[in-house]
Amino acid sequence: MKYKALKGIHDIYPPEIHAWQTVEKTAAEVFSAFGYQEIRVPIIESTDVFIRSIGETTDIVEKEMYTFDDKAGRRVTLRPEGTAPVVRCFIENHLYNLPSPQKFYYSGPMFRYERPQAGRFRQFFQIGAEAFGVSDPKIDAEILAMLKTFFEKLGLRELNVELNSLGCKQCRPSYRKALIDFFSDKIQGLCQDCRRRYEQNPLRILDCKVEGCIQLRKHTPRMTGFLCNECSLHFESLISYLKLLKIPFLLNPNMVRGLDYYTRTTFEVTCEHLGSQNAVTAGGRYDRLVEDFGGPSTPAIGFAIGMERLTSLLKESSTGKIPTPKFFIATHGDRAAQEGLTIANRLRAEGLWVELGYAGSSLKSQLRRADRLSSQYVLVIGDDELAQAKAKWKRLDDGTQGEISFDQIHGSFLSSNP
Ligand code: HAM
Repeated sequence: MKYKALKGIHDIYPPEIHAWQTVEKTAAEVFSAFGYQEIRVPIIESTDVFIRSIGETTDIVEKEMYTFDDKAGRRVTLRPEGTAPVVRCFIENHLYNLPSPQKFYYSGPMFRYERPQAGRFRQFFQIGAEAFGVSDPKIDAEILAMLKTFFEKLGLRELNVELNSLGCKQCRPSYRKALIDFFSDKIQGLCQDCRRRYEQNPLRILDCKVEGCIQLRKHTPRMTGFLCNECSLHFESLISYLKLLKIPFLLNPNMVRGLDYYTRTTFEVTCEHLGSQNAVTAGGRYDRLVEDFGGPSTPAIGFAIGMERLTSLLKESSTGKIPTPKFFIATHGDRAAQEGLTIANRLRAEGLWVELGYAGSSLKSQLRRADRLSSQYVLVIGDDELAQAKAKWKRLDDGTQGEISFDQIHGSFLSSNP
């Protein structure tokens, strides 16, 4: 075939799409119960929006953004993530003037020019949520409780919550210094990128995937040992709330996350079945970002779920179940086909999924199609049935059957023969 989707970019179509729809519906239900409302932000933004927020020395900004000049010569970027556009929208539209907290969720495609592999794509979808205006660690716990409810509704239980605190502007510099000291006699062993990171942003060394760097950082100091009093209290309160809510978690002191805007709480939800790209969700606090963007000082926290990784976990579970038609109407002859069309139209207006046989296919092949679709009921209309204004019905799962007059075929038939 001459035309192909671009590398790392894929189509989503039936039956896979059903798992996606289940996830989106479940997210909307669960997130609404926690007070989050949908927000839709653009797919494309000024490049500065991402550089300022994600950080100049992150992999995303350095290597992975789809950036180009538009026809007027403006530097623009396809969003690599959703937090920065939501923060830009929050400030631009003065949403901070509305009663606090403001809580939003979003879903849609993100773009990162990464090396594609299992669970890592160049266009991928996220469902994310962001809450603005609350510094109380209760909301950190609430967000993790929301994720737990969401995953449980989807039937997923084998997930781990990994937790860390990255401190704040007060305490992080001393940690940065400790990392510089720790790596000072190991610089030669670091990869090229990490040698640069050592100078510019040593925390990023903890995020490097190169085996040599992973080995060298085995005994690095932990951020949690450098937290100031307030950050410590925040972290301890969060942990006590998680215990109260019976949300299991693992402390992962080396988790630094690939974006620079985080402060205090950071977390990842991981699943061993996912292989090396094992984070199905990631997020944390970004208490300084709104202010850094020119808005009023506003604490904030959020997360994003990777849809491809999540739906791949659902494939084996019953949540990914494919929907089936309620009725298949198989007909023989022109007049029966007209009657079938009329009945189908009536049932569809009631919101039921009805399939029809079309001209050119024998009764036998129509019934084969009904079987393939796993229709709940088959209605058969031929000459005899037309003469009596009745259809034969059959339930495909248990083989029960009977007759029903045309004018009685309504959705209520399903409730009397569930
Ligand atoms: P992130 O860790 O960059 O965080 O991405 C969140 C999730 O998106 C990952 O855990 C993963 O499931 C999925 N993901 C990321 N990159 C890819 C990829 N190339 N292919 C497939 N899936 C991917 C953020 O994006 C932050 N905006 C999250 C956040 C919201 N923090 C605060 N608020």
